[in-house]
Parts: sequence; structure tokens; C-alpha cells
Amino acid sequence: MTKLWGGRFEGQSENWIDEFGASISFDQALAKQDILGSLAHVKMLGHTGILTEQETTDIQTGLLAVQKKLTEGDLQFSIENEDIHLNIETFLHEEIGAVAGKLHTGRSRNDQVATDMHLYLKDIVQETIKKIRTFRKVLVKTAEAHIETIMPGYTHLQHAQPISFAHHLMAYYGMLKRDQERFEESLKRIDISPLGCAALAGTTFPIDREYSAKELGFSAIYENSLDGVSDRDFILEFLSNSSIMMMHLSRFCEELILWCSHEFQFIELTDTFSTGSSIMPQKKNPDMAELIRGKSGRVFGNLFGLLTVLKGLPLAYNKDLQEDKEGMFDTAHTILTSLEIMAGMIQNMKINTDIMEKSTEKDFSNATELADYLAGKGMPFRQAHEIVGKLVLQCTKQGIYLQDIPLEEYQNVTPLIEADIYDALASRTAVKRRNSLGGTGFEQVRKAVNHALKELSDSNT
Ligand code: ARG
Repeated sequence: MTKLWGGRFEGQSENWIDEFGASISFDQALAKQDILGSLAHVKMLGHTGILTEQETTDIQTGLLAVQKKLTEGDLQFSIENEDIHLNIETFLHEEIGAVAGKLHTGRSRNDQVATDMHLYLKDIVQETIKKIRTFRKVLVKTAEAHIETIMPGYTHLQHAQPISFAHHLMAYYGMLKRDQERFEESLKRIDISPLGCAALAGTTFPIDREYSAKELGFSAIYENSLDGVSDRDFILEFLSNSSIMMMHLSRFCEELILWCSHEFQFIELTDTFSTGSSIMPQKKNPDMAELIRGKSGRVFGNLFGLLTVLKGLPLAYNKDLQEDKEGMFDTAHTILTSLEIMAGMIQNMKINTDIMEKSTEKDFSNATELADYLAGKGMPFRQAHEIVGKLVLQCTKQGIYLQDIPLEEYQNVTPLIEADIYDALASRTAVKRRNSLGGTGFEQVRKAVNHALKELSDSNT
């Protein structure tokens, strides 16, 4: 079969080489964008008088017919036509004959493919932002219901200080808010049109790049044609923002997995998000959380893959750039689904508030309370820390906790300790009293939740 670019060639192409060079198996995902790009381009060619009115109308009609077939699933893509651009152009030829050949006036596949990807990512990033927002809503709603739910706060995965469960959830809310901001901010670099940069150097035709950019809804155009066709920073940013977000989701999943283990039993995931074992009848495994944790690996890999593809490329277009797509599609699919699963898991999980709170009662996570109590009565904090450390050691030897030490014993250590110590040592009091700005005190958490609810209802992104 003759290639659309076959004029200069004498030798026959070979199927296995064609297959290696082709991108149609994956870039067909850009079919919609490719047709939109061509519609804008041909309109511009008509507007500037580069094509006659008749030619413009013929090509437009043909493209709309191809578009219709695409939505109806009637297009058969072929490897012989290499990529989405040549496939669509071939379909156009089939619709309208030779005039289809005029569509490619003043443009190249290099600016065409870049345009397609800008259009594609603009949609995906907007969808991502919406899904992050939905997940943030789920987090804050769950937090709202659990402001006074007590859980152990950890450092080094050891009980550190009791905290509000809502406070823990709101930490993830903060991460996801930053993720959303990163995606929002990146839009201004995605929302730029490379169309009309042509192969690398622009064109001799009197094209109107601003016109076609406007047609496609872009806010700006690339100022340098070489940059326009070879820039993939906007994809890197997407992959990088996605990686950071997946890292957040993965950390959260790690906690969910721990929390639903027999040792913790803090939560129970619903059946929808769990699977069984083919041999152990009792198993209910948190597969979806594990998969999100696992899939973060491929998202990071896609970022490093593209960085590596780009790092040695001379300007402008090189076929290496065709390798920018699969990782982008894979990441887009992975993050969108992961966000949806996260929202579903959190919204529906059962939270065992009693078990969470109880696990803060048989531990030493109130040791700081005792030290703070003494420091509050004038003892230097370092000295208080030393005394409490010794008491903890003594308790561990006797198999008791700080709240089990009788008052006389406390008073033998220091008369500063009085009967109110037992209330100070209670987890609930400990949490309630941590009211410093951004702390876990109920008042602070309630403020944070209200603030989040307000910011979610104010913004419409
Ligand atoms: N399929 C190609 C890609 O994705 C389109 C651009 C081809 N340009 C070229 N000069 N061979 O990068």
C-alpha cells in the first residue's frame, strides 16, 4: 500500500517494520482531538483565503462525516496508515476524494500531534480536578462526623499522642487540596496552541495561528515554533503532579490496609472494595487499596520514562516523541480510577470508633500529658520529661500504665501532682486540650472542617 508520505521512496515497506513504527494502536485515543484540530485548521485556511470557500466546505463536511463515524464506532484504523493523523486523513480521502489533500496545507503532523495532546490533557486535567474535589468532599464529610472520634496518633508507627480521627483525615484533605492546586496551575501551560508551528519553522502560507487557537478554545499560542513542536513539559508536569498525588493516595492506602488488619481493626472496608481468597475462606482482602498503592509505581515509572525519552533530544521533532503517549494515557486512566475508588472506599467504610479510642487507653500515649502537667506547674520541661520517662520505665516493669499509678505514689515523686492528674491523663482530655493553631483539639478540628466545607462550597471547580 502506498504511504501518504511515499513519494520519495522506492523500496517496499515491510509489515514488521511498519508495526514497530506505528502508533495507531494507542494514539487512536486522540481521534476526537485530531478531528477537532483539523476542523479548526481548515476553518482558518478558509478564513485566511488559503483555501477557497468550496474547498473549505468540502473538507469540513468530510471531517464531520468522519467524526460521525467515529462516534458510531464505524472507523477501522489500520497499521499501514501508521498513526491517528494519517488514518484520519485517509478516511477523509475516502469521503471527499482529492480535495482532502489540501487539509495538510501549512501544517505538519508535528504541530498536529502536539495540538491533539494539549487538547487531550486539558480535558483530562479538568476531569482530574473534579474528581479530586469530590474526594476532598468525601474526606471532609467523613471528618465532620468524626471530630470527637479518638485514635492513636503515630510517629515511627508507635503510639505517640492521641488525636482526633477527623484531624487525621483532614491531613489528607490538605494533601489533596495541594494536588488540586498543582493541576489547576498546570492548566495554563496546557492551554497553549502549537497549531501552525508546522514541522518546526512555521510556514510560508499566511496562516492565522491566533484564529485556530481561538477556535480550539486555547488561551494562548506557543511563541516559538521549535518550542511548540518539541515541548512536552506540559505532559511531564501532568505525570509529575499525578505522581505526587498517587504518592499521597498510596500512603493513605497503606494506612487503610493496616487499619483493616486483625491487629488494628480500626475500620472495615465494604465488600465492593474487598476480595476473598481462593483457599482461605475467612479472608477479606483490601485489594483495591493495595492496587492503588501498587499502581503508584507505574505512575512514577511513566514520569521517569518520559524524562528519559526527552533528556537527549536535539530540537525539534524526533520520532522518540511518539513514546510520550502510552505513559500519559496510562497515567490518566490510573489516576482517574484511583480517585474514584478512594472516594468510594472512604465514603463507605465502617469506622470502629470504640476500638480506635480503646487502643489509646492501654498505652503510654499520655506520657506527654504528664510532662506538660508538671511543666504547667512550673517544673522545667526537661526535668519533667526525665521524671515521666522514669515512671514509664517503672510501669513497663510492673505491667501497668500511668493512669494506674496511685496518687500517693505520684505525690512521693513530686507533690506537684494532684488528684486532677487522672483527668489530664485521659485521651479525650489530651486531644481536647491540644488547641494550638492547626492542632488536634476538637475546637481546632471543627474550625478546619468548617473552613474546608466553606472553601468547597465557594469554589466551583
Ligand atoms: N505519530 C507521531 C507521533 O506521535 C506523529 C508525528 C509524526 N511526525 C513525523 N515527523 N514523523 O509523534
